Amino acid sequence: MLATSSRARRKKSRGQGRPGNPRPATEAIVTVSTLGRHGHGIAEAETGRLFIPYSLPTETIRAKITGDRGEIIEIIEAASNRADPVCPHFGECGGCAVQHLQEAAYHEWKRGIVATALRHQGLDVDAEPIIDAHGEGRRRVTLHVRRHGSHVQVGFMQAKSHRLSNIQVCPVFVPAFSEAIDLACRLGDCLDAPVHGPSHGLDVQLTASETGLDCNVIGISANGYEQHMALVDIAEKYDLARLALDGEIIAERRKPHLRIGMAQVRLPVGGFLQATEEGERVLSGLVRDYVTASGAQSGADLFCGIGSYALRLADHVRILAADSNAMSIEALASAVRYTQNLKPVETVVRDLFDNPLSAEELAAFDFVVFNPPRAGASAQVAEIALSQAPNVIAVSCDPSTFARDARILVDGGYTLERVTPVDQFKWAAHVEIVGVFRRL
Ligand SMILES: C[S@@+](CC[C@H](N)C(=O)[O-])C[C@H]1O[C@@H](n2cnc3c(N)ncnc32)[C@H](O)[C@@H]1O
Repeated sequence: MLATSSRARRKKSRGQGRPGNPRPATEAIVTVSTLGRHGHGIAEAETGRLFIPYSLPTETIRAKITGDRGEIIEIIEAASNRADPVCPHFGECGGCAVQHLQEAAYHEWKRGIVATALRHQGLDVDAEPIIDAHGEGRRRVTLHVRRHGSHVQVGFMQAKSHRLSNIQVCPVFVPAFSEAIDLACRLGDCLDAPVHGPSHGLDVQLTASETGLDCNVIGISANGYEQHMALVDIAEKYDLARLALDGEIIAERRKPHLRIGMAQVRLPVGGFLQATEEGERVLSGLVRDYVTASGAQSGADLFCGIGSYALRLADHVRILAADSNAMSIEALASAVRYTQNLKPVETVVRDLFDNPLSAEELAAFDFVVFNPPRAGASAQVAEIALSQAPNVIAVSCDPSTFARDARILVDGGYTLERVTPVDQFKWAAHVEIVGVFRRL
């Protein structure tokens, strides 16, 4: 049996049915040549490139074509490495892009995304084999909640759409999220005002901490005493560590904590955290190994968040840690105050896009690690390229901006020695990268 679900086949192509933009659909038989970086099979047709979700290289597909989008009608010849998706929602839910490919080929696809981005920037470095960092699963998720009359819908957005897929299970969650969907449903029921037609909805952001679930509901504020008390009851029923609405704490039954290195960190509401515990362990382990091997004594951790690198490095090197999120910096500073035997850690709230550390400031350090958001760190990287810092480690969640920033460093005289892809977003099109640069 072919692995593509009937839902995948029912999925509407982009642009179809838009008022004022009707594009006639045609039918064609095509052969898929590559798997694109968003997980869509790509076929070269007479009319140009066709993007066909849920198809795989070598497959012969009967597809409904609208513009440059194809929708599988029938898989005439399936790829030998096609796999059965593990999730019943695959093909409808936009959370996962590639569950229909066997593991070795899936890993090679992700490594290839990084290799292609490097090649596009003219960087001649082989990406290493990808490290699987799924571990126990995603410990941080945002569930979307919408209410239709008395029915509450919970799930993730469909790919490239504003439509929500209702989900009952999610195989990428950590076991601590076993009641997450039920919880989100209860919160939607309690908070989202009944309306005629679909509501604007809300987002339920969940983090599995060591002391229980930390829950922040975004897009709504509590309305009156009764609703407040209903939320407190929900926090009790689901044994939440903390429940907040748009950052305002409604119930804190236990402080949400995580151990990082020797420190206990109190999580700020809604602050950044690597998606899986294993991802944090692998990324920080790679950073630590490179720093230790370099013999460095002091360094800067830029875009440091709550200190997943700084706190692990500070057992043997002095650190300056900078991030624009004041709550993350406060959580890190507090963890440092209460942890013994750390080397000095200086913490700074600083916008590194507008006000990057200058080359002169960076002169104080033996190494620099930077881990920016998806947009990359071009202003900061321009300063690093002018600096004499001997060791630079880039951690990134975006291959294109990683490669762009790497190009700036290489043009500034650094050698890109190693590129290690890390997979903490299993079955999604995201990939993390650790790059090591040296000024020889
Ligand atoms: C990918 S996270 C990395 C955090 C941390 N290294 C970790 O592993 O947990 C990116 C961090 O960049 C921070 N950030 C976003 N924009 C920033 C800016 N303009 N200046 C400084 N930090 C920024 C965020 O607050 C977030 O902590």
